[in-house]
Amino acid sequence: MKNRIIILDTTLRDGEQSLKSSLNTKEKIEIALSLEKLGIDILELGFPISSPQEFNSIKEISKIIKNSTICSLARCVEKDIDIAAKAMKSSNNFRIHIFLATSYLHIKSKLQKTFEEIVQLSINAIKIAKKYTDDIEFSCEDAGRTSIDNLCYIVEKLINEGVKTINIPDTVGFTIPSQFGDIIKNLFNRVPNIDKAIISVHCHNDLGMAVANSIAAIQNGAKQIEGTILGIGERAGNTSIEEVCMAIKIRKDLLKFKTNINHKYIYRTSKLVSKICKIKIPSNKAIIGNNAFSHSSGIHQDGIIKNRKNYEIINPESIGIETNRLNLTSRSGRAAIKYKMKEMGYKKEDYDLNQLYDLFIKLADKKGQIFDYDLENLAFLTKEENESHFYKLINYEINFIYSNKSKFLIKFKHGKKTKKIELEFSNNFIYSLIKLFNRTMNINIKICNYEMNIKNKEKKEICSINIKVEYESQKFYEIIEGYDMWEISIKSIFNILNNIKKKERLKKIKLSKVNLNDKRI
Ligand code: KIV
Ligand code: ZN
Repeated sequence: MKNRIIILDTTLRDGEQSLKSSLNTKEKIEIALSLEKLGIDILELGFPISSPQEFNSIKEISKIIKNSTICSLARCVEKDIDIAAKAMKSSNNFRIHIFLATSYLHIKSKLQKTFEEIVQLSINAIKIAKKYTDDIEFSCEDAGRTSIDNLCYIVEKLINEGVKTINIPDTVGFTIPSQFGDIIKNLFNRVPNIDKAIISVHCHNDLGMAVANSIAAIQNGAKQIEGTILGIGERAGNTSIEEVCMAIKIRKDLLKFKTNINHKYIYRTSKLVSKICKIKIPSNKAIIGNNAFSHSSGIHQDGIIKNRKNYEIINPESIGIETNRLNLTSRSGRAAIKYKMKEMGYKKEDYDLNQLYDLFIKLADKKGQIFDYDLENLAFLTKEENESHFYKLINYEINFIYSNKSKFLIKFKHGKKTKKIELEFSNNFIYSLIKLFNRTMNINIKICNYEMNIKNKEKKEICSINIKVEYESQKFYEIIEGYDMWEISIKSIFNILNNIKKKERLKKIKLSKVNLNDKRI
């Protein structure tokens, strides 16, 4: 199809080479399968000459991937190309990606060669790769800083040798969109055999232009975009696949292109890459950040309730996020409270909006973010019930038994009674504590997500915990800050237990209401 853009994902090559520690084969397989499901056309799996583990991972993934073309990187060196072909030989759909620098700076100061030698080395490498496959991609490394005359010259020669895909990388993220677009336009105007190859782009994000440069390139004739999930990659990273593919989808009115991406898998693929690569997604990250679909100010929340399009250009469900999130904070207005209550199934006559709003503002000032069950507690439980702590920490003691094992003695109030529990643990304190409560109370709370962050605030370390648990198919959240990591860990669990208790109490209230009012019973 004329307007179809091919997506090459290099999360496992350019992305992986930027991680603090490399991924093992199992982790790479998990990512590769998820990328295949996402609808990636070409999966760049790595640089097999770099290590035996890298070679082995590529070999294993090559046996599994069926729908995407797989690809491996090689320098213009015979051994690199042989090894790349060997690693992928169990697949009948593979590409060899060869690269060599073409900019004056790289040729002179990195490779100490002449431009003519670069052209010759490239031609020799293509001849070697052709023994294994017709699907050869050639990258003119640092093309963004290569003189346009040299670039046009080498591209013509490469296409004459039978290269099917010519990649134009902005290796150091130096160009700006109009300039990068012009490089592509020039290639189309000046290289006589340009229609015999696909022009690809590979943009780095040093000036934050990677996505914009890739879009400028397709507007000028490029047909393949390379990138990574979350935009991970050397230094400031690469073009973010989720961003560029959503830009193409959302602005199809202007761009008139299509990709093969299953947009519904964008969110889960990004989450998987974030988890496996241990890269936190910034909350304001476009498309997939936590705040990308959450609306905080009262005016925005009111606008969203009236019509989502007022403040949302992307439907969160379209990338696999179940619902949009109205972030209830002290900036929220009455409209948001009313909307949330309605969403939970309450009618306006079930509660007093003004009274609920006053209580909400007080709690939001203290707590930051307010969740559905907090609203229900405020609306239906009495002040005493809300304030009386079912579980309340009195104090705790730690004894370090061995270097990797500690014993905790936790003293707390449970209703009117004072109780003590003893907890021995070796690694994750929160998980061990939940396990202990599950066992002793015969319940089943599952931790879905747990994050602890330590920040330096005015020379004091402040610790915050963000935890999400599931209990009887319902999610409970807690966000808590403090100076003592152990204390806030225990408190976060107690707060969750208290919210579960309150929820159970609410259930009883609702049931008793039904019993009293329903004449048929
Ligand atoms: O950034 C770059 O130039 C590369 C090439 C190997 C494609 O990653
Ligand atoms: Zn790169």
